[in-house]
Amino acid sequence: MGFGRRLLGKDGKPPGEVNVDALSAALDDVPAGFALFDSEDRLVLCNPAFREVFEAADDPIPDGAKYAAIFRGAAVKGRVDGIRRDEESWLDGRIKAHNAGPNRFTMTLRNGRVFEIDERRLPNNSTAMTLLDITDYERREAASSTNEQKARAMLDSVFDGVLTIGADGVIDSVNARTAEIFGRPIEMIIGNTTSLLVPDVTLSDFLASEALGSIREFRGRKADGESLNLEIAVSELPDNWSLQDRRRESRKTFVATIRDVTEQRALARQLQQAQRMDAIGTLAGGIAHDFNNILSIIMGYGGLIQQDLPPGSEARENADMFVQAARRARELVEQILTFSRHSDEQTKVPFDPKPVVKEVLKLIRSTVPATIEIAQEITAHEGRVIGDVSQLHQIIMNLCTNAVHAMGSGPGRLSVSLTEKPLGGADASAWGVNKGDYWHLNVADTGDGIPAEVLDHVFEPFFTTKERGQGTGLGLAVVHGIVTDHGGVVRVESRPGEGAQFHVLLPLASPDKVVDAPAVPAAAPTGNGQILLVDDEELIVRMGQKMLSRLGYIVVGATDAEEALETFRASPESFDLLMTDQTMPGLTGDALIRAVRRIRPALPVVLCTGYSQVMDAEKAKEMGIDAFVMKPLEGDQVGQIVSQVLDARRS
Ligand SMILES: Nc1ncnc2c1ncn2[C@@H]1O[C@H](COP(=O)(O)OP(=O)(O)OP(=O)(O)O)[C@@H](O)[C@H]1O
Ligand SMILES: [Mg+2]
Repeated sequence: MGFGRRLLGKDGKPPGEVNVDALSAALDDVPAGFALFDSEDRLVLCNPAFREVFEAADDPIPDGAKYAAIFRGAAVKGRVDGIRRDEESWLDGRIKAHNAGPNRFTMTLRNGRVFEIDERRLPNNSTAMTLLDITDYERREAASSTNEQKARAMLDSVFDGVLTIGADGVIDSVNARTAEIFGRPIEMIIGNTTSLLVPDVTLSDFLASEALGSIREFRGRKADGESLNLEIAVSELPDNWSLQDRRRESRKTFVATIRDVTEQRALARQLQQAQRMDAIGTLAGGIAHDFNNILSIIMGYGGLIQQDLPPGSEARENADMFVQAARRARELVEQILTFSRHSDEQTKVPFDPKPVVKEVLKLIRSTVPATIEIAQEITAHEGRVIGDVSQLHQIIMNLCTNAVHAMGSGPGRLSVSLTEKPLGGADASAWGVNKGDYWHLNVADTGDGIPAEVLDHVFEPFFTTKERGQGTGLGLAVVHGIVTDHGGVVRVESRPGEGAQFHVLLPLASPDKVVDAPAVPAAAPTGNGQILLVDDEELIVRMGQKMLSRLGYIVVGATDAEEALETFRASPESFDLLMTDQTMPGLTGDALIRAVRRIRPALPVVLCTGYSQVMDAEKAKEMGIDAFVMKPLEGDQVGQIVSQVLDARRS
């Protein structure tokens, strides 16, 4: 064997003869395992590190042992992990590889240690084998790859989008949430610049050093073009991280955290709008209340003048015009009151909304140009809405009129659908309503759409973009008022150039809410009896006195509720009915009624109100009030109500 070779020193001079003993003694100290097999695969020489791996304590490897036997021994004794069941084929593979020439493989022992084994043929056909213990290295590798996986999984489960960006704006890694936010697969984001995701923001703006670390709001864009409200915080990764990554040695790396706040912003806008509508409603309602009182007087006196003038005379015609104008004014006030949610509860009945929608569409069809297609979809659901049929009519009419107007004379499509929509907890809160079953009325057009700056105001009363005389801006305000009054909600969706869509949700009636509609009173009958009439407006009292006395009643008027109570107390039995205003300084109508009823519990009472947030038909009913009426009342109505109440009591 060739072990008595000369080894040469650095200077090329032989340092001395090395013999086999000296060499094998040196090998004994090497930490790697080493073995030499001859051309017949017999073990010629091995060191202790080799024995440690292949030799069982009670069964030393004999000199000249065959390669296959050594491996078989290790396999059979179970020193090698994971091959016991399959030992023959493992050995076959091993021996074939060994004979085929240089090869390298790893082998894991049962005790968990991992060896990298290197075999190479020497020129004299013997084989040298080295064993390197790579256990620690393997463990470190495994640990770092688990750490990486953990970090990856952590990033992917974060609620925010996280991405790293080079100073050139190129995105080089993103987490799963980023893909979700922007609706693009991860591979389609990596390699692009940030302008793919936030198109309106320049790179220098995006990575502006003074803004690093603070949260800023940007508009983002999804793959489908939809716009997003994003809160983005950008920070710079520490230098040492950048240095570790050889590919980007001298480059800065930024990490951006992206939160999608689109929904929150939309909700906040809705809330703001709702609050603004509330404030406007209160204001408009208050004004309408005062107008109501004035209109009561104008219409009342106008009616009296009308009656006194001979029909056909010029003066009568003038009076007719006067009353007609006052009636128009009242219609306007009524619209404002509708908007400020003070409709008369008594007119609400359960009804089927389907025929109403069909009827309006028929009406619309006959008036819009043929270039506009009308599509309708109505589901066969039987649910009813509690409300006012004419008001639903008004909602659909107003929405369709706007839609048709937006499409002009050009080709277009008006789509109206009425479908049932059960709303669970999350959906309901997204719509801002209680959970339950709803009718969903959807009116969509293909017009010019509504610009963002207009969108926030469309429901405000008197907001219009139409020319003077073309629109009053009350259409959508009334829709909003009616829908809210019916316990529903109205929403608009629009992008300029893409038409507008209005969604109305109206709650379905629950069966126990079903009540009868009140009967409409007939002509104004005469009557008799003494009436106590109280209103803080002197003109209203005087007018009521005149109207009722014409019908045969004796009317005692009072403009101060406390005084009226004194008058009543002086002779409670002489009165047949109390008719009082609700909103008065000092004693309110309901308080006066309670005081009077303590003296005469069965006294018939009528409560009038213009605009009041504390009193409504339901409360009035609870209090046992005979009639609750909204001002202004025309001459006929006062008489009708008084006689109705008295008749009902007498029969
Ligand atoms: N379908 C729509 N498409 C585009 N813009 C609309 C649409 N519906 C409403 N708008 C906008 O909202 C504004 C307010 O509508 P609203 O119905 O309250 O009043 P109007 O139509 O202007 O007047 P009115 O209904 O009192 O005659 C309109 O002037 C218009 O700018
Ligand atoms: Mg309109």
